[in-house]
Amino acid sequence: MISKQQIEEKYTTVFGYAPTHVVRSPGRINIIGEHTDYNEGFVLPTAIDKAIYVGVGKRDDNIIRLYAEDFAAYFEIPLTEIQPVEQGWPNYVLGVVDQLQSRGANLKGFDMYIDGDVPLGAGLSSSAALECAVGFALNVLFDLEIERVDIAKIGQLAEHTYAGVKCGIMDQFASVMSKADHVVKLDCRDLSFSYKPLELDDYAILLLNTNVKHSLASSAYNDRRASCEEGVRLVQQQFPEVKSLRDVTLDMLETHVKPVDLDVYTKCRFVVEENERLNKACDALEQGDLETVGQQMFCAHEGLSAAYEVSCPELDFLVDYVKSFPEVIGARMMGGGFGGCTINLVKKSFQDLLVERLAPIYEKQFNLELTAIKVIPSNGTELL
Ligand code: GLA
Repeated sequence: MISKQQIEEKYTTVFGYAPTHVVRSPGRINIIGEHTDYNEGFVLPTAIDKAIYVGVGKRDDNIIRLYAEDFAAYFEIPLTEIQPVEQGWPNYVLGVVDQLQSRGANLKGFDMYIDGDVPLGAGLSSSAALECAVGFALNVLFDLEIERVDIAKIGQLAEHTYAGVKCGIMDQFASVMSKADHVVKLDCRDLSFSYKPLELDDYAILLLNTNVKHSLASSAYNDRRASCEEGVRLVQQQFPEVKSLRDVTLDMLETHVKPVDLDVYTKCRFVVEENERLNKACDALEQGDLETVGQQMFCAHEGLSAAYEVSCPELDFLVDYVKSFPEVIGARMMGGGFGGCTINLVKKSFQDLLVERLAPIYEKQFNLELTAIKVIPSNGTELL
């Protein structure tokens, strides 16, 4: 946790005056439902107690000045010259500014200080958290009267246009809309959603970070999305009413996609099955049947690894290893893939022992550190 006071003090050190607002926007986990969001399917995420924090203040001119604590880096640009830049990190801010301006928002210059405790590149959506923190902060600073859900949509578009990843809505939605101690069952077709209590009793959610940074992830992500769209196109030739993989059955895939393109078929089949797994897991969660939730997580990992091909040896190793312990009832890779964290449902009393046993073996095998992250389901974006 970073306090409001810490952000205010650091902002003041950088910019020479105190910020008017401090906003916290969290990273997210997802219990199950991966690569379903951009296929109009379901997801089951929630925000965590690790977040991006921004302090903001108005300026009298039209300059934006940014300071990112994680990179000890400063950046400035006039509002009239907003465009993607090479430095990387400012794009998450500039993309949101660009979206706001194209919606007709009347922005002025501002200063923004950015800090956070969401590990970067770990699949916990630090970028979505930043986009939503920026959207929320500018909404308050300039009285834009934008609804929460639109802040999520603006963040998603910023990711498309300024980060080049054609992501779904899950990460931004979870960052903005989550509720403490609950998960959100979100229907990505129409953004209808409901909160489900996350009652874990003797169990806890433990993340294990491979510390593999996914360098090729964005192009592979866009490739997967293209495969899904191709599957839909093939089915549409027979069923013009089909809009997305949400409308597609396994039979349709078998008959109309498999004979034409086996790879596209395998990818689409994963998505259709992942929605089924999510629904099973969600029903089980409502009945307090964590064992079934966990089993669906293990099955999801198999699909993500073998069929959707978004895992990596490090993630597979971690999931395989924890399977041998009865205290771990579910595990899978989480998020876009190719690195980042696994999410594990583990007996509370076993968490530390698990990490103690696993870390040296992992480190020897891959020459990488293994980081354990305990997370608590938390509230979405808020003004501190
Ligand atoms: C990334 C994207 C999300 C989602 C996941 C995979 O986190 O940003 O929209 O597609 O991958 O489920």
